[in-house]
Amino acid sequence: MAEKTKIKIGSVPIFSGKRILLGVTGGIAAYKAAELARRLICAGAQVKVVMTKAATEFVTPLTFQALTGEKVATAMFGPEAEPLEHVSLGQEVDAIVVAPATANIIGKMAAGLGDDLLSTILLAATRPVLLCPAMNVAMWANPVVQENLDRLQARGLQVMEPEAGELACGAVGLGRLPEPEDIVEAAARLLSPQDFSGIRVLVTAGPTHEDCDPVRFLTNRSSGKMGFALAKVAWRRGAEVCLISGPSHLRTPYGVERVSVRSAQEMLVAVQDRFVAADALIMAAAVGDYRPVNCELKKIKRGRNEAQMQLAQNPDILGEISRLKDKQVVVGFAAETHDLEAEARRKLEQKNLDFIVANDVTRKDAGFAVDTNQVTILSRKGEPLRLPLLSKEEVAERILDRVVDLLAAQGREG
Ligand code: C5P
Repeated sequence: MAEKTKIKIGSVPIFSGKRILLGVTGGIAAYKAAELARRLICAGAQVKVVMTKAATEFVTPLTFQALTGEKVATAMFGPEAEPLEHVSLGQEVDAIVVAPATANIIGKMAAGLGDDLLSTILLAATRPVLLCPAMNVAMWANPVVQENLDRLQARGLQVMEPEAGELACGAVGLGRLPEPEDIVEAAARLLSPQDFSGIRVLVTAGPTHEDCDPVRFLTNRSSGKMGFALAKVAWRRGAEVCLISGPSHLRTPYGVERVSVRSAQEMLVAVQDRFVAADALIMAAAVGDYRPVNCELKKIKRGRNEAQMQLAQNPDILGEISRLKDKQVVVGFAAETHDLEAEARRKLEQKNLDFIVANDVTRKDAGFAVDTNQVTILSRKGEPLRLPLLSKEEVAERILDRVVDLLAAQGREG
């Protein structure tokens, strides 16, 4: 069994006790590295910043010193330089993030050059490295840059794709630094045990919208937070994740493939299409049980004192899927207002699940639209596991711990 992840969000920050070296090189995106440093610190990391000379032309070392509380290293020689930092820094930290990484530092790393403090640290580094390239669109498209990145990736370095959009130079295309939020996630993956490596996880999330007419629909109070947390944490632990989500304003977690659906029927098709290729399905979506028999083509008009709408039962996605179940681990949720454990146990059997996650949605700090949850995990065998109030990411960790245990029992470890 792989070691369980210790990386947590919420009450225990994800980078608690971790030391990260942030290398900043000389591109205009260097200003975004300040936001990245702040986010890493908020997530519990101790951050040591090393800047190239060109980077200091864009942002002053004082900015990073104020944010990190640590002296910023910029020089290999001279009165400011600490002896042996050029070797020790890349070996003492837990991970190195270079953001932004210019074409220049990428070229130097690929060629094995060490002509300043950061490039020398990277040459001597023994810790995992994440490169976050940001540069002009033509530089990014230059085959020599791509070849250099291929070489670095082949040597085990992690490289984030830059984003597309309008660049600071006015050009439009690939080259923007990824969002700091996403860099934090990629760094979290770098530091997490990869116990889901090679495992394909399908997660459903959010509510469904069941259309009544062109402007109205039936829905529920689900925000998607629990399912999105599961997708995010599974990716962090190395999984290939597909998130099938009903309408939700939440941002797609970095690295996760999102399939957007509206109705229960659409969700059923999306799950059916992907289930056979998956190793685990976690149905966190709050699927509408009923839909209007007819979706009116024109807006239903006001006028009558009373109106009635005929409803048809939606397909039970888990029920349908259980017929296709082979070796997949299948997990359901039971959001209940009463008889929590009895209801959950009934669904566990009826839907042929490996385990079910039950939560009392009458609690204010658990269930719909909040960042915390208090759940009980019921399996086919053994006592229910009653968890305390946790952040949804911590609940996701515990659910995924159980999924990985079940996969390991079948001889399928990440
Ligand atoms: O029966 P109930 O809706 O309470 O079951 C909850 C579980 O079943 C959740 O995992 C939910 O995603 C799933 N579900 C489903 N298809 C439905 C309704 C719920 O798969 N039509």
